[in-house]
Amino acid sequence: MSFRILGTGSALPQCVKTNDDLAQILDTSDQWIRTRTGICRRHVMTTETVTDLAAEASRKALEQAGIVPEELGWILCPTVGGDYITPGLSATLQAALGAHCPAMDINAACSGFLFALDAAEGIFARKKARYVLIAAAEGLSRIMDWEDRSTCVLFGDGAGAVVLGEGESLLSLHLETKGCPEPLHGCFPGGNSPWLSVKPENHFVHMDGQEVYKFAVSTICSGIETILQETGVSPEEIRHVILHQANLRIIDAARKKLPIPGDRYRLCIQETGNLSAASIPVLLDFCRRDQLLKPGDLMILCGFGAGFTSGTALVRWEP
Ligand code: UT7
Repeated sequence: MSFRILGTGSALPQCVKTNDDLAQILDTSDQWIRTRTGICRRHVMTTETVTDLAAEASRKALEQAGIVPEELGWILCPTVGGDYITPGLSATLQAALGAHCPAMDINAACSGFLFALDAAEGIFARKKARYVLIAAAEGLSRIMDWEDRSTCVLFGDGAGAVVLGEGESLLSLHLETKGCPEPLHGCFPGGNSPWLSVKPENHFVHMDGQEVYKFAVSTICSGIETILQETGVSPEEIRHVILHQANLRIIDAARKKLPIPGDRYRLCIQETGNLSAASIPVLLDFCRRDQLLKPGDLMILCGFGAGFTSGTALVRWEP
C-alpha cells in the first residue's frame, strides 16, 4: 500500500521582483541571472506569512481532492522553516486549516518533499490515516543576505501542496543524505546566552554555488538511473520529469546526460526561482493546471539540496 495523489495546489506571494528590480539594489544584471540560472522573476513575501502560503496551497489541494480538513489523518510540512523556530509550520498550518490530526515538519532542505512522500508511504502502510496532506512552504527571502548577489538572486517564496489517499501510485522511492553542511547552510540567529563562547555565524544562507552545482547534477543522474534500472521502466515511458527547480543549467546538464527524451522535463524556474522544498509540488500543480498530466502517466520527481540530501521517486499519475 502506498498512496494516490488526489489533489494539488500552490500559492505564491503577490509581490513579483524581476531581475531588473534586483539590479536596482545589487551589482547584478538581468543578463547575468538569466544566462547563469534561467530565472527571470521570483515572488517574495511582503505581508504574507509562510503559514498563509501553506494554507492557500493546502485549501486548493483539499478542494480539488474533495476532502475537508477534519478528514485529514496527518499533515506533513517539508520546509526549512515556518513562521517560528518552534512551533513548526505544521502546527500553525493545522490551526489555520482547522484540522485536528497530528502534524510535523520535515527539514530535508530542497529534498523535503521526497522525504515527506516516504513518511506518507509509511503512514499509509501502517493504516494510520485515510488522507495525508503534504504542504511544502518556504519563505527564504527572509534568510537571504540581500547584499550577497551570488545567493539572493536564486531564491523565491511560495508553497505547494498535495492531498494523498490510499493507492498504489508510488512505484519506487530513494532517499540519500550525505552529511556535508559546509557548501550550503544557514545558522540559528544568535541569542544572548552568557555562556556561549563560540560566536555564531550570521543567520543568512551561505552557499558555495559550484560545489552544490556538482552535487546536484551527479545526484539527479544517479538517482534517476537507479530508479530506471530498479523498476525496468524505459526512459521513453517517462512522461514527466519534475526536478527541483534550482538552476536551469543544472536541469540542462542532467537532461543531456540522461536517456529520457528532452521534451519531458517540466519547468517553472523562470517564474518562481528556487522555492526549496516547495518547488516540486508547485511545479506538479502547474503541470496539472496546464492539463499536461494524463491518467496513467509515469513521472519522476527528484529533489536535492542542503545536507546534502537528495530523493528520487517514480510515481504514476492516477488522480
Ligand atoms: O537548491 C539548491 C540550491 N543551490 C543551487 O542549486 C546552486 C547551484 N549553483 C549555481 O547555480 C551556480 O553555481 C551559481 C548560479 C550560484 C553561480 O554560477 P557560476 O557560474 O558558478 O558563477 P561563479 O560563482 O563562478 O561566479 C562567476 C562570476 C564571479 O565574478 P568573477 O569572480 O568571475 O569576477 C561572481 O562574482 O559571477 C559573479 N557573480 C555575479 N555577477 C552578477 C556571482 N553572482 C552574480 C550575480 N550577478 N548575481
